[in-house]
Amino acid sequence: MESILITGGCGFIGSHFIRLLCAEENFRVVNLDKLTYAGNLENLSDIASGFCFVRGDITDRDLVGRVLKEERPWAVVNFAAESHVDRSILDASPFLQTNIGGVHILLEAIRKFPVKRFLHVSTDEVYGDREGKDAATEESALCPGSPYAASKASADLLCMAYRRTYDLPIIITRSSNNYGSFQFPEKLIPLCIRNAVAGLKLPVYGDGGQIRDWLHVEDNCRAILAVLKNAQPGSLYNIGAGGEWKNVDVVRAICRAVAAQTGHYLEKVESNIEFVADRPGHDRRYALTTEKIRRELGWFPRTGFESGVEQTVRWYLSRPEWIARVTSGEYQNYYDSVYLRTWGKLS
Ligand code: NAD
Ligand code: DAU
Repeated sequence: MESILITGGCGFIGSHFIRLLCAEENFRVVNLDKLTYAGNLENLSDIASGFCFVRGDITDRDLVGRVLKEERPWAVVNFAAESHVDRSILDASPFLQTNIGGVHILLEAIRKFPVKRFLHVSTDEVYGDREGKDAATEESALCPGSPYAASKASADLLCMAYRRTYDLPIIITRSSNNYGSFQFPEKLIPLCIRNAVAGLKLPVYGDGGQIRDWLHVEDNCRAILAVLKNAQPGSLYNIGAGGEWKNVDVVRAICRAVAAQTGHYLEKVESNIEFVADRPGHDRRYALTTEKIRRELGWFPRTGFESGVEQTVRWYLSRPEWIARVTSGEYQNYYDSVYLRTWGKLS
């Protein structure tokens, strides 16, 4: 049986991708993850025997080389990253180390131990703010606006340079904002679900008019799998749902779903919406064209946003113990440093 090395498989999207691989494919799955604050083996507890877990850091040259030498995987899919923009504003260092340095280590390792595919998971944030511009195509210029986005754009450039220089079988996906179960409650949707259920303030940065294209995580994972299996080495695909939502409308949709599922009055839940100081350098709009993946691979998103939010709220309501565990300890320090010290008391 051929194997696949997944990095960052204990995080939000990586754990969904491993679940999809275990359900639909016949690979030996090796999951290399450092278990940062965002990584959690509990995210994979329903398929605990479906993969082999290696706890480790993609910036560890010896470890990465050893795993590739021993496993000789057919493909590597790199999800491992520091992924939260607000944290990159507080401290960019781990972003540069993992998102650029770690990708460099992985690229060097596959030069030594070749694979058939190296799929690097990137983001629509590398194209920067699309306000007043057309949606980004795969050919659009990179114009990152946050330390996180700059680290991801740097990794993309490194991947493209290694493709050209060493003829490595590199493929890049750039997706829009994902949401769904198991997302760490620092990101807008799970943070607001948690706060809405607990009767805490719902912090909306600036005027709430920023636009994101929300993609259900299972749709993104199906897209990544289709790309992995069918795309030509050297290719690049945007992945998005094609729906543009203002942040404040996303938060209102969460309020509606929480009120409907808890029996709380909608007016009471919505009264907790609070407009707070904006995120520094906040990109106003992200937008992608996704004709390429639809045309070439026949992929399309299956989950509509409102029903996806209802489903996601249902999941968070059913997993209070998961939320309690991932928000214990370090989370409160982070929450305080972003929401209390920077933007004032919110609860
Ligand atoms: P996440 O923060 O939930 O998970 C990241 C995972 O990587 C964690 O399990 C963590 O332990 C692991 N990790 C971090 N540093 C590591 C290191 N040095 N070595 C090994 N493992 C390490 O992130 P996510 O939201 O699941 O995002 C996964 C990937 O998708 C990232 O590359 C991110 O940039 C990209 N992406 C995310 C979104 C989104 O909306 N979440 C959208 C587009 C692209
Ligand atoms: O676009 C893809 C990117 O989406 C990924 O590459 C990143 O890994 C992922 O974190 C996500 O980045 P965003 O910054 O867009 O996601 P976040 O959920 O943090 O914020 C979504 C929008 O909501 C953004 O405009 C900022 C705003 N926001 C966020 C938080 C946490 C608020 O208004 N209030 C908040 O408390």
